[in-house]
Amino acid sequence: MKGRVVLSGMRPTGKLHFGNMVGALSSWIKLQSDSTTRCFYMVADWHALTTDYQDTSIVEDNIEDMVLDWLAAGLDPKKSVIFRQSWVPEHAEFALLLSMITPLSWLERNPTYKEQVTELKDKEISTHGFLGYPVLQAADILLYQASHVPVGEDQLPHLELTREIARRFNFLYKKPVLVEPSALLSKSPKVLGTDARKMSKSYDNCVYISEPESSLKKKINSMFTDPHKVRADDPGHPKPCPENPTGCVVFSLHDILEVDRNAFRDREERCRDGRLGCAACKKDLLETMTLSLKPVREKREVLIKEKNIVSEILIEGSRTAQLVAQETMNQVLDAIHFKKPIGMFP
Ligand code: TRP
Repeated sequence: MKGRVVLSGMRPTGKLHFGNMVGALSSWIKLQSDSTTRCFYMVADWHALTTDYQDTSIVEDNIEDMVLDWLAAGLDPKKSVIFRQSWVPEHAEFALLLSMITPLSWLERNPTYKEQVTELKDKEISTHGFLGYPVLQAADILLYQASHVPVGEDQLPHLELTREIARRFNFLYKKPVLVEPSALLSKSPKVLGTDARKMSKSYDNCVYISEPESSLKKKINSMFTDPHKVRADDPGHPKPCPENPTGCVVFSLHDILEVDRNAFRDREERCRDGRLGCAACKKDLLETMTLSLKPVREKREVLIKEKNIVSEILIEGSRTAQLVAQETMNQVLDAIHFKKPIGMFP
């Protein structure tokens, strides 16, 4: 596959958790090492405003925290274009144009939208901006002629909409300017938080990728295991089953981290037979998680001492991104017969 263009983004919600790392971030990092793929990774700061427009005072800190985590985990500005959406204003210009051709019904029937409206009841999100969230996301993707978009399953409706908008644009203006992107679904399993619900900031059940050693131990010790396994030699139910519907969190994390699959199967057997107690199993998990998180934490500590590193990377990346974005905007304006004198704007 020659000449793939990958684009993805995250809303800056602050420090990333273990679920983000084994999910989206690890796939981003893998993609950047393929020399035939050009990767764009974006801080979706305007998207963050769609639900959190009231208090915007933490946006800058959240961006700093998130990008530090990206870099510490291995995202490399030499291999990927790492940029900030609001520093490439073409995203707004293009989103406005796309909003002209996007039927309202396409936005209203979007399942992710409908779900959020019911879920985020305590937020006033019946706004133009929130309904138009996928239009802005379509602009993000189409501006870079992205062929592939690594996302989680919840983003598939947005991607389908992006494809529909691209088709409609090309059809209306009779020029194949926009590329229809495909999703790259990350295969990562659902990561459980300490309480056995999906790991999520809003549930306060996360292990952060910059989690300090001392609190990592505390969090692992507090993880949900199996209510039927009271003593170490009681038979355990590590996987979801009628006796333990969610399954054991510690076991599910071993499953994600253990490279030696025989050792993993052996762990399951010893748990079921009552030969492995939860305390010992948690101690093993602490060791494995420390091994995977410690280098990230240490790299983060080094990076944080380099003043302005995040803003320097974002400035440089946004400049590069803007050149690509302007190229597409020129084609777009040409297709809709809008003229912009060359050199009119610096
Ligand atoms: N909507 C995405 C999310 O919540 C973030 C995002 C914004 C995005 N623009 C994007 C993802 C473009 C992929 C491509 O995770």
